[in-house]
Amino acid sequence: MIVVTGATGNVGRELVRFLTDAGEKVTATSRNISDAEAPDRQVPDGVRRLRADLTDAASLRPVFDGADALFLQNGGTSAHLLDPRSILDVAESAGVRRVVLLSSQGVVTRPESASHGSVARTIEDAVRDSGLDWTILRPGGFHSNAYAWAEPVRARRTVAAPFGDVALPSVDPADIAEVAAVALREDGHAGAVYELTGPALTTPRQRAAAIGEALGEPVRFVEQTREEARAQMLAFMPEPVVETTLSILGEPTPAERRVSPDVERVLGRAPHAFEEWARRNAAAFR
Ligand SMILES: NC(=O)c1ccc[n+]([C@@H]2O[C@H](COP(=O)([O-])OP(=O)(O)OC[C@H]3O[C@@H](n4cnc5c(N)ncnc54)[C@H](OP(=O)(O)O)[C@@H]3O)[C@@H](O)[C@H]2O)c1
Repeated sequence: MIVVTGATGNVGRELVRFLTDAGEKVTATSRNISDAEAPDRQVPDGVRRLRADLTDAASLRPVFDGADALFLQNGGTSAHLLDPRSILDVAESAGVRRVVLLSSQGVVTRPESASHGSVARTIEDAVRDSGLDWTILRPGGFHSNAYAWAEPVRARRTVAAPFGDVALPSVDPADIAEVAAVALREDGHAGAVYELTGPALTTPRQRAAAIGEALGEPVRFVEQTREEARAQMLAFMPEPVVETTLSILGEPTPAERRVSPDVERVLGRAPHAFEEWARRNAAAFR
């Protein structure tokens, strides 16, 4: 049985689908998961849903009952509250032998940033020091970050974003999930660190246009100044997170702009382009 943490998230829900389609037994967990989140309000065969909080390692004990593998993610904003060694100890003592960690490219590209690098590095270190077979996934920015544009696209067919012509190779969360499914189910990935990106560099202006194409209606792109973007982001992100995010979006390093071969290396096919993600998820923007 495979435990998927963050099972309601962009990567986790795709991973639950890949694993159940492959016939695996899955325990899906998050703080707020419920049967109501299953498609058609039915729990797919083989999926057990349990609420647990990653910041409370003891609450995870029942989750690991009968588990042999774990997909671990940090839950984003609560990452700094995690005690990864305790989580891994609880997992190992329950019989888990393999862990796949969703980390971040920021471990290498933004090592000084707590939100983007150093906290994720601490979790990676705990995974490496555990007695488990481990695989680490380091994605760059996700295609699904464009969900932040869903409301203005639905309401006004407009995207407002900074750095309209700065390109990055964002990655499809479904590709991250599929790589995770392979590393969880198949041998040969222990000790591997995969850097996960999309197949090509795209700019915010191009991504807005791709959403328009998926909708069959043009979407207007309005370039924000850095100050306008900062003010908007400060409404829902702490200041250091805003500064690092603006730096990645506006002045990406060569490593953040590099298209990685790793999705293709693991899956034997190219990663999904942003345009494909937009077509698949057009309903969110309608
Ligand atoms: N988005 C990016 O560009 C990007 C880039 C690199 C790395 N990452 C990393 O990728 C991970 C997933 O991103 P995402 O966009 O898929 O996130 P997401 O869609 O927001 O999913 C986060 C998942 O974690 C669960 N969660 C949050 N806090 C939790 C806690 N304390 N205990 C248990 N579960 C918790 C959430 O469910 P509940 O709310 O029900 O608990 C949800 O299922 C994050 O760790 C992020 O740091 C993201």
